Amino acid sequence: MARRTKAILSAADKALIAAAIEARECAHAPWSNFKVGAAARFGTRVIKGCNVEFDVYGLTNCAERTAVFAAYACKAAQKKLTAIAVVADTPQPVSPCGACRQVLFECGGADLRVLLTNLRGDVQVVTMGDLLPSGFQLDAQAGAKRARTSRNNAWPYKKS
Ligand code: THU
Repeated sequence: MARRTKAILSAADKALIAAAIEARECAHAPWSNFKVGAAARFGTRVIKGCNVEFDVYGLTNCAERTAVFAAYACKAAQKKLTAIAVVADTPQPVSPCGACRQVLFECGGADLRVLLTNLRGDVQVVTMGDLLPSGFQLDAQAGAKRARTSRNNAWPYKKS
């Protein structure tokens, strides 16, 4: 896995991390007190997300998925997801949970760049393929393409 701490980052990557740090301030984590921020780049747009917890614990939403869902809600997800930064106040850069890995894999594919960070400025740059080898993709499964087509081309967005 291409892990690097204190990675050399482009201006766009630094901006993405700054947006994730900003988003973390919005986290609603009364139960875990573990605030997470995420910022996802869809085309040229950066969409932020934070974790949100509820009294019914299972309804909690992670920062990464909040960003993805927000991107669908504002149509930013019409463009391909190319990078996401995730930040928490951890000794090591924070790494997405399994559910978020699947969602990110479906949106950005194996080449999606994932910037794992913490508030100390450590950064690890990995790809989605590193984090989720052999992730599930409906189109890749036998017969699935036909099933999707017969649901009147239901996939809403053209990726470019
Ligand atoms: N959490 C995230 O938002 N993203 C991650 O990558 C790991 C975990 C949240 C879920 C929950 O609100 C809190 O962190 C503790 O698990």
